[in-house]
Amino acid sequence: MKVVQFSRFGSPEVLEVIEVRKPQPARGEVLIRVMAAGVNFFEVLMRADRYAVTPSLPMAPGVEVAGLVEAVGEGLDDALIGARVAVPLFAIGRGSGGYAEYIIADAGSLARLPEGLSFENAVALMVQGLTALHLVRQNPPAGKTVLVTAAGGGVGSLLVQLLKQAGAESVIAAAGSGEKRALALSLGADRAVGYDMSGIEADIVFDLIGNELTRGLIDPLRPGGRLVLAAMGRFGLDQVDIGRMLEANQSLQGFSLLPLLGETLWADLAELFDRAHRGEIRVISGGRFPLTEAAEAHRAIESRLTTGKVVLVPDS
Ligand SMILES: NC(=O)c1ccc[n+]([C@@H]2O[C@H](COP(=O)([O-])OP(=O)(O)OC[C@H]3O[C@@H](n4cnc5c(N)ncnc54)[C@H](OP(=O)(O)O)[C@@H]3O)[C@@H](O)[C@H]2O)c1
Repeated sequence: MKVVQFSRFGSPEVLEVIEVRKPQPARGEVLIRVMAAGVNFFEVLMRADRYAVTPSLPMAPGVEVAGLVEAVGEGLDDALIGARVAVPLFAIGRGSGGYAEYIIADAGSLARLPEGLSFENAVALMVQGLTALHLVRQNPPAGKTVLVTAAGGGVGSLLVQLLKQAGAESVIAAAGSGEKRALALSLGADRAVGYDMSGIEADIVFDLIGNELTRGLIDPLRPGGRLVLAAMGRFGLDQVDIGRMLEANQSLQGFSLLPLLGETLWADLAELFDRAHRGEIRVISGGRFPLTEAAEAHRAIESRLTTGKVVLVPDS
């Protein structure tokens, strides 16, 4: 079977497709034919060695998949074969291996998909859906004006919707292109802007980009406001910036998804799947790429042209 990995850091070309033996499920495990594997921005950073943590090589990226159970190991009911499932690998201690034709998973680590929810939409609701859900829980927006950066992206497009649904008085969506801003407005944002922050005031600012952008996000913060650092790269803040924030009684809030995933994980996933299935959350597709063209998927994200979720699908 095919797996995508990289053995050195660099541009998208370092992603290579290798052949490995198709695995067999052991006792209590299932073999899943991957129908959609999620591509996340942090994997782009990781591949270029711009991520907060440098992975050891070779690295096979991919932390979320959805697909069909093809075979079951000893001790499991054959009735599971053919089930449509999602596997949040990142949440069960597996930080790699999702860009693949097949994966093995423990039968206890499967989330069932509602009939009618596509594999691609399910994948969009795992890392990115759970991130948006926990960002809202951590920073209750009721009655507040909030600013979301990268608002047309995977996390951003879901966050705009969940913030509105949680009672935000006003959601300001910042995004890099007119198309992304139009998308954010269609998802319920009250206002859409570029990254020039003049004239903007917000109680909570969600930084989904980091690096040089972060400093510019202090200006739109109201006195007493909160800047949420949710990007996983690096943040361009120095002591002067932090001094300005302290003088205005503002706070910095860290965000890291993994430690927040506790016993509510499976209920949270079921809720996200169900809300998307019922049409309460719109999942935006950012493009489907054949597994063997994973490098193209990374290029698309890096070009900043994608909106919503980018997924890898089986080669036809
Ligand atoms: N802390 C956590 O636990 C956690 C969990 C999940 C995701 N995240 C973070 O949430 C953010 C969004 O993740 P995502 O997977 O949904 O990605 P995404 O938003 O679909 O894509 C990244 C977006 O960042 C913006 N961007 C700004 N500078 C860029 C550059 N140099 N290259 C490419 N894009 C650039 C682009 O939007 P514009 O063109 O509109 O600027 C792009 O659409 C990422 O920073 C990710 O690391 C954090």
